[in-house]
Amino acid sequence: MNDKQIVGEKAVEFVKDGMVLGLGTGSTVQYTIQKLGELVKEGLNIKGIPTSIQTERLAKEVGIPITNFSEIQRIDLAIDGADEVNPNLELIKGGGGALLREKIIAKAAKKFIVVADPSKMVMKLGQFRLPVEVIQFGMEMTEKQIRELGLIPEIRLNETSPFVTDNGNFIFDCSIPDNVESEIIEQELNMIPGVVENGLFVGITDLVITLDQQKKVILLSK
Ligand code: A5P
Repeated sequence: MNDKQIVGEKAVEFVKDGMVLGLGTGSTVQYTIQKLGELVKEGLNIKGIPTSIQTERLAKEVGIPITNFSEIQRIDLAIDGADEVNPNLELIKGGGGALLREKIIAKAAKKFIVVADPSKMVMKLGQFRLPVEVIQFGMEMTEKQIRELGLIPEIRLNETSPFVTDNGNFIFDCSIPDNVESEIIEQELNMIPGVVENGLFVGITDLVITLDQQKKVILLSK
C-alpha cells in the first residue's frame, strides 16, 4: 500500500452510518472514496456531495449515492487532500483545480478531515504555488491586482490554452513571498473583484491524517 492509500483509507474510520459527506478531489482522497464504495456495497448508508466533476464520476462509479445542496440541510463530514499542510493545519489546496467547490464544502461541513501523505507536511506554506481562481472577464486587470499584493501569478495552462475549472473560470498559480502572512493574503486576494476564491484554507481543518517517519498513521488536531 502506498502512503496516499494508507492515509486515504484511514479516513473512512471517521464515517458513520447516515452521514452526509463532502467528497474531496485528488489522488489521495480517491482511496477514501473507493473504500467508501466498498462499505456502501456492504450496507453503509451515506450520501456524498462531490467537490468536482471528476469526483462525482468516481463516486458514481463506486456506488456512492450523490446529493446536492438543495436536498440536504447539513454536511456532517468533509474529507479532502491538500497540496501543503503547515503545523497550524493551514493548507494550500487547488493543485487539481477544484479549490472553489472544495472550500464551499469544507466550510459547510461540521468537521473537515485532511488526508495528506508526509510529502505534504511543511513548516511554512508557499513552496507549492497558491492557486487563485479568477473569472475570465478582466483577467488581465485581476492579474495586475494580484501582483500588487506582492504575489507572482502565472496562468495555469492545459497544454497550450488556459486550464478551465468546473466553474468555467481560469486559475493563476501564484508564488508567495516569504514575508507574507497567509491569513492576510487569503482575505486580501478575495477582495479583488475578479477573484472568485483562493486555495488558502485557514482555520477550517479539524484533523489531518498523515504518517510519521516509521510510516505509522498519526492524527494531528489543534
Ligand atoms: C484539488 O484541487 C486539490 O485541492 C487536491 O485536494 C490537492 O491537490 C491534493 O491532491 P492529491 O491528493 O492528488 O495530492
